[in-house]
Amino acid sequence: MIDFQFTEEQEMIRQAARDFAQNDLLPGVIERDEKQIFPAEQVRKMGELGFLGMMVDPKYGGSGMDTVSYVLAMEEISKVDASSSVIMSVNNSLVCWGLEKFGTEEQKQKYLTRLATGEIIGAFALSEPEAGSDATRQNTTAIDKGDHYLLNGTKNWITNGGSASVYLVIAQTNPEKGHKGINVLIVEKGTPGFEIGPKENKLGIRGSDTHSLLFTDVKVPKENRIGEDGFGFKFAMMTLSGGRIGIAAQALGIASGAFELALKYSQERKAFGKEIINHQVIAFKLADMATNIDAARLLCLKAAWDKDTHKNYDQSGAMAKLFAAKTAMETTVEAVQIHGGYGFVKEYHVERLMRDAKITQIYEGTSEIQKIVISRSLIK
Ligand code: CAA
Repeated sequence: MIDFQFTEEQEMIRQAARDFAQNDLLPGVIERDEKQIFPAEQVRKMGELGFLGMMVDPKYGGSGMDTVSYVLAMEEISKVDASSSVIMSVNNSLVCWGLEKFGTEEQKQKYLTRLATGEIIGAFALSEPEAGSDATRQNTTAIDKGDHYLLNGTKNWITNGGSASVYLVIAQTNPEKGHKGINVLIVEKGTPGFEIGPKENKLGIRGSDTHSLLFTDVKVPKENRIGEDGFGFKFAMMTLSGGRIGIAAQALGIASGAFELALKYSQERKAFGKEIINHQVIAFKLADMATNIDAARLLCLKAAWDKDTHKNYDQSGAMAKLFAAKTAMETTVEAVQIHGGYGFVKEYHVERLMRDAKITQIYEGTSEIQKIVISRSLIK
């Protein structure tokens, strides 16, 4: 059976996210982008509304919702402010999910309960100066010293890098074991030897804070390791599989936000004696945009449904991210084109959405990485 109907609860969540985006995110979004201001107040409110631990069990402070609801909320929030939605996506998918699934009861009580309510936010530290797509090549080391690990190395491009309180850090413990020697450790901000590098000056999602992280002889207690010794790479891959659904929904939201603006503008703006939507050259662009967005939404919801019904979502998540990110890029470029000169200035929002779209083809695996995941899944 296929049911294209949302439940009442899912509709309510979508409406709550839409209202939050209009009332709390839209005001000041241009200035936050321009000046790279972290949306601290808005993130606090996201926590209050339950958007930072959407799928976490209420007994750990979460909202206990499904992944479909998460996709709906991500789309609505990303339509207006993709900087805020990446903060939300990382906290939900890359931090809370793995802690809840693989953490010990102590780790959940100590960290998850505060992360899921938004009292604090988290970051996921996998990428390195020389390990982006090739994630097995971890140079950061976590040497086993009995009751603790000694952490040394550098992480790059870490979302929530400065604003997080808790970091899931991937590091190599046994290089001779390759990816099977990698661990994931919970590292608290303020641990001696842990320094946060300067904020990156980015093309898009400029409200979110991206930093490098530097670890010099950082002592991390053994009880802060998640899972068995050597579980870190698998942990990272599984985490990213779910994360890709969130970023796919972000890309979808960027596309649909740009589309809605272009549709409205094309019905107001007149040229050559009529509203520009009545020129077929514009109408056909809008028809293509709407079709691609609908296809991207269906892929996102399919991947979410796979996850909610405990099916494998490596392939469907990668397909959703690949297609939604391409749609975000193409749709935002066309939205700028439809706006003409107005599209090139900041007040009309579409230039920001176009800049924000690009990162969805890069982070949580480039589009090329998604094709690797998809093509491998075809021959298995
Ligand atoms: N689930 C469980 N296990 C998985 C898995 C998955 N989805 N994917 C891989 N694995 C396991 C494999 O089974 C294998 O284990 P065994 O040896 O026990 O069989 C192991 O991991 C190694 O897998 P591969 O041989 O497939 O590894 P590979 O080196 O060929 O790499 C890759 C695979 C898909 C290219 C992977 O490296 C990858 O995803 N790279 C991209 C990394 C990435 O997305 N980085 C994003 C950084 S985070 C970020 O962007 C956050 C942000 O800012 C918002």
